[in-house]
Amino acid sequence: MIDVSKDTQMMEAIDRIRASVSGLNLKYFIETYGCQMNEHDSEKLAGMLVACGYTKAEGKNEADLILFNTCCVREHAELRTFGNVGFVKELKQQNPRLILGVCGCMMQQKEVADKLYKRFPFVDMIFGTHELKNFPFMLEKALNNQRVFNITEMDGEVVEGLPAERTPGFSTFINIMYGCNNFCTYCIVPYVRGRERSRNPEDILNEVREVIGQGYSEITLLGQNVNSYNYDGITFPMLLSMVNLVPGLVRLRFMTSHPKDLSDELIDAMASLDKVCKHIHLPVQSGSNEILRRMNRRYTVEHYMELVNKLRSRIADVEITTDIIVGFPGETEEDFQATCELVRNVGYSNAYTFAYSPRQGTIAAAMDEQIPQDEKRRRLNALNAVLAETIPAGNEKYIGYEGDILVEGVDHRDEPLLFGKLSNFKMVYVKGDEKLIGSLVHVRVDGFRFNSLSGRIVE
Ligand code: SAH
Ligand code: SF4
Ligand code: F3S
Repeated sequence: MIDVSKDTQMMEAIDRIRASVSGLNLKYFIETYGCQMNEHDSEKLAGMLVACGYTKAEGKNEADLILFNTCCVREHAELRTFGNVGFVKELKQQNPRLILGVCGCMMQQKEVADKLYKRFPFVDMIFGTHELKNFPFMLEKALNNQRVFNITEMDGEVVEGLPAERTPGFSTFINIMYGCNNFCTYCIVPYVRGRERSRNPEDILNEVREVIGQGYSEITLLGQNVNSYNYDGITFPMLLSMVNLVPGLVRLRFMTSHPKDLSDELIDAMASLDKVCKHIHLPVQSGSNEILRRMNRRYTVEHYMELVNKLRSRIADVEITTDIIVGFPGETEEDFQATCELVRNVGYSNAYTFAYSPRQGTIAAAMDEQIPQDEKRRRLNALNAVLAETIPAGNEKYIGYEGDILVEGVDHRDEPLLFGKLSNFKMVYVKGDEKLIGSLVHVRVDGFRFNSLSGRIVE
């Protein structure tokens, strides 16, 4: 473990930057792509920038430093970044002191970072996911007009002590582990985020207490595969029971769960711990055993259905959401129909669906039998049509249901309505006073739209 807050060289670098930019009123703007891992890294980058004396800009136009925190999990994420980086050239002409940085998962792929470095000479800083902790040193260089290119393979360490500027609200994320060891054959994440490493539970608990002190009441514990969290024998269900005890915490969520590691202990923890929410995101990816094998997912459809049944029988009102990929290399029409069948059988409350996107360097990208783009799109549309039937069908059982929502805000689309989620992640819209934002409110459901419910507040 590296504790950055005890790194005097880094603290000195921050002090030097603070002194050199003082009085200049410099502003930063961070644009984040991808998952919550990146969102949270951006909060840490913002934390370091604030420590260096920057304040947050409202938009790119008024920024003196723009950072793109990139994702490369699917092709379109990549295309968008290249487009948006090109667009900043104009802003640099208007504001000569503007510094542009590109970081995150996409930059951890050295070939892509090289390409960006050559193609966009006006990019000042390029750095990978393992370089976050060195940000003040890189910023100092960039402020001295030196170009930064920093991509390293080092991934064995957990870094603690970085300040974070969290998105304001009632709900926030805490990383419990980094990286992934699963190497699903389609996935780039293990290559750009390195091997799995779990944080010390003491550090996690301290962070939980800290964010509760700042006013957050809902926490989502994050990892690519939280079920394999392990720190000196402390497992994920044990960690949940420790966090559950922290005073002031109202709701505890977690993601993502890999079906191969979902244990009975975790199901029991979800059923028995009062703050742990009754929702699980359990990506299935495919409903065909042959495709699951080729994806290296290491479970079968039968095992997955067994988990679904266990969850449903032990946890009242539990809801399950998922991720699905269509058009994986070699996926036959029969395989695809098996996925649609599984979707009908499980009854998900929501699902994120993707057309398979070949990622350079992964095993699946080199497989024969790649599916043509048109066919992938057809399957994606067909699968979404199945979900458009099955998701609303799951809403009927909620008519007359009573439960608590944590009010998140007001929706002004038609008439102003408060919205918030039940413990099981179902969104409910109700009439009510804006003062209720941030509190738990008891509601009774009397209608539904596509994947949300409507109702009214009851005493
Ligand atoms: N660690 C999580 C999420 C990883 S990325 C998990 O294991 O579930 C989020 C989702 O993106 C994945 O669940 C998968 O459905 C999708 N995905 C990942 N790689 C992809 C690829 N190459 N093409 C299409 N979808 C992909
Ligand atoms: Fe990617 Fe699989 Fe790891 Fe999830 S579990 S991040 S899909 S390799
Ligand atoms: Fe997340 Fe994208 Fe990286 S999904 S881990 S930001 S590749």
